[in-house]
Amino acid sequence: MPQRPAILIARTVFPEVVQRLQQHFEVDHNATDAVLSPAELVQRLQGKVGAMTTGSERVDAALLAACPELRIVANIAVGYNNFDVPAMTAAGVQATNTPDVLTETTADFGFALLMATARRLTESEHFLRAGRWNRWALDMFAGADIHGTTLGILGMGRIGQAIARRGAHGFGMRVIYHNRSRLDADKEAACGAAYVSREDLFAQADHVVLVLPYTPAAHHTVGAAELALMKPTATLVNIARGGIVDENALVAALREKRIAAAGLDVFEGEPQVNPDLLTVPNVVLTPHIASATLPTRMAMAMLAADNLIAYLTTGQAKTPLNSVAPR
Ligand code: 8YV
Repeated sequence: MPQRPAILIARTVFPEVVQRLQQHFEVDHNATDAVLSPAELVQRLQGKVGAMTTGSERVDAALLAACPELRIVANIAVGYNNFDVPAMTAAGVQATNTPDVLTETTADFGFALLMATARRLTESEHFLRAGRWNRWALDMFAGADIHGTTLGILGMGRIGQAIARRGAHGFGMRVIYHNRSRLDADKEAACGAAYVSREDLFAQADHVVLVLPYTPAAHHTVGAAELALMKPTATLVNIARGGIVDENALVAALREKRIAAAGLDVFEGEPQVNPDLLTVPNVVLTPHIASATLPTRMAMAMLAADNLIAYLTTGQAKTPLNSVAPR
């Protein structure tokens, strides 16, 4: 019997996903879940035609040159800033991600983080747990309203539109957005959102939510200048990627109450967190969990598995990010 193709699952995934892949491939599963260094990843990929990765594995020209047998890398994420897609295309390596299956779950979390931020949920819980609640006061943890306010969404892809629908149809918000390209009128109507300039978005929104993809051009999209445009009562939520926000500028704005509060699920250099952020009370911090429900994480990992199986057996991935000649 000819030897079956070998693949690497670079981080720990659910047993069902490993079993599905084992029906087709020789599977090397990193069951310890330790993040592999670039050198360990290259070493572990020797002899492998496919890999399943997460945001913690970088796939770049150096790795591709050292792994000439690799034909496909399937990311368990919709974002793929850990991939150098042009280098993958040049090397004839198929890149895939996991769109759609996480849209509604991630939008739910974006809204949860927005509400926690505006209503000072974690700050007030820490106060209670610390035993500091000894009397009620009229202005105690008085935050910002969500219903009836203006929601500004930067980045209007699938997740941005799902957040817009929640704001417009669930909370009676006026929804404004900015994006590289404007949505067509039907899509704008479906999610109840109006297109504005980048400056107007920051200036008019009571709550700004960042959902844009991270590219070198998007680095520090929100810095001191953008924060200065925002209302002092406004909140900022980032569920996209850490590098989109200049964290030092954000810490300064939060400390000086130039904006009311922020909610961050993603960080520059995560899982390390800028220690200054930990000292600021008016920020809600979560460890990159926007897509983290069990059904959605299962669906993401299964879609990545389906991409590996489909590409390596038929030459056609389910959710391809690039177009490569079969080899
Ligand atoms: C992933 C994410 O869980 O999909 C994305 O882009 O940020 C998360 O849903 C995370 O990137 C791990 O790969």
